[in-house]
Amino acid sequence: MHSLFVIAGLVLQALALTSTTDASTTAIVTLDYATYQGSTDATNNITSFLGGLDTVLLPLAPEAYTSTLPYAHGGQTSPPLFRAAMTSSTALPPQYLGDAPILATIYNQVASGAGSANAMGTFTCLVASPAATLSTVENDVVVGDFFCGTFTFGPVIDGTFIVERPADTLKKGLHNGSRYHDTDILLSATNSYEGRDFVDTTPAVTNITQFAQDVFPLLTPAQMTAVAAEYAKYNATLATIEKQAVALMGEATFICPTYYLLNAFNGSSYRGEFAIPPGNHGNDLSYYFFS
Ligand SMILES: *[C@@H]1O[C@H](CO)[C@@H](O)[C@H](O)[C@H]1NC(C)=O
Ligand SMILES: *[C@@H]1O[C@H](CO)[C@@H](O)[C@H](O)[C@H]1NC(C)=O
Ligand SMILES: *[C@@H]1O[C@H](CO)[C@@H](O)[C@H](O)[C@H]1NC(C)=O
Ligand SMILES: *[C@@H]1O[C@H](CO)[C@@H](O)[C@H](O)[C@H]1NC(C)=O
Ligand SMILES: *[C@@H]1O[C@H](CO)[C@@H](O)[C@H](O)[C@H]1NC(C)=O
Repeated sequence: MHSLFVIAGLVLQALALTSTTDASTTAIVTLDYATYQGSTDATNNITSFLGGLDTVLLPLAPEAYTSTLPYAHGGQTSPPLFRAAMTSSTALPPQYLGDAPILATIYNQVASGAGSANAMGTFTCLVASPAATLSTVENDVVVGDFFCGTFTFGPVIDGTFIVERPADTLKKGLHNGSRYHDTDILLSATNSYEGRDFVDTTPAVTNITQFAQDVFPLLTPAQMTAVAAEYAKYNATLATIEKQAVALMGEATFICPTYYLLNAFNGSSYRGEFAIPPGNHGNDLSYYFFS
């Protein structure tokens, strides 16, 4: 069995994962895709990521949205991808169809920034662009035009590999653990303040309704008001708007998706919380990998 370690650069993600109608007809093998697929040993059909036959550690880091992994193919991957899984800070930022308006906007900004906007095939033009150009454009798009805290580049719903939003797959209780379903087991941890690093506090967050609107631009005004009202209920522990914003970001992106995952492994899932202060996202890593 051989392992596959692929570190995908953000530049490649920008190119490969922010697709539009223009790009959707273009076949491209992405490093991210290879990462998700793991490597399969044909003699026993076991797919390995960072682990072995009995315990596969799914590397669920948000950087490459590797948390998409267990939901690939709508949870119907053959052969199964894992038997046992440990997750840390499962991240499910919003995920859209490849040609959805928000992604099309991002794609057009990338194309324009790279000088590819007027090319006959913008995607071909982007693929041919120097990495340094794409890197600069990516930074500009991420830090420049978008609300801080938005996860700008990520995988899309392509209809084949990712057939639907992972939250929908989990809601159906689908995941691709072992073919011996009753041996599937899951341990999931999250950190106390997952959202803190993703909330821009300069200037201070003063309006949680506006904050919800910025984080989820497609929510209706009524939904945003409902979100704000929900967090206001906890003003005893979330005494400031900023604390509410941190909770909102952390729960929307990491903590609620972890519960979706736990529910999909109903009866064989275990949950932990990393609560050593400051308990921010990523603080747990040095406790797992301390050398
Ligand atoms: C592995 O899977 C393939 C395709 O599903 C199947 O044809 C093959 O027989 C399997 N091999 C083993 C060892 O189970
Ligand atoms: C994984 O996918 C295969 C192939 O579609 C399916 O037969 C199996 O039931 C799935 N495993 C689980 C645990 O859902
Ligand atoms: C908070 O933001 C919402 C949505 O933009 C807005 O309707 C409301 O007036 C704002 N409240 C205050 C006190 O500024
Ligand atoms: C907390 O919310 C309650 C109603 O839900 C309200 O009466 C109270 O004034 C709020 N406290 C603060 C500090 O905003
Ligand atoms: C989990 O299983 C229990 C017992 O079978 C059941 O009562 C409960 O509704 C299930 N929960 C979910 C989220 O499916």
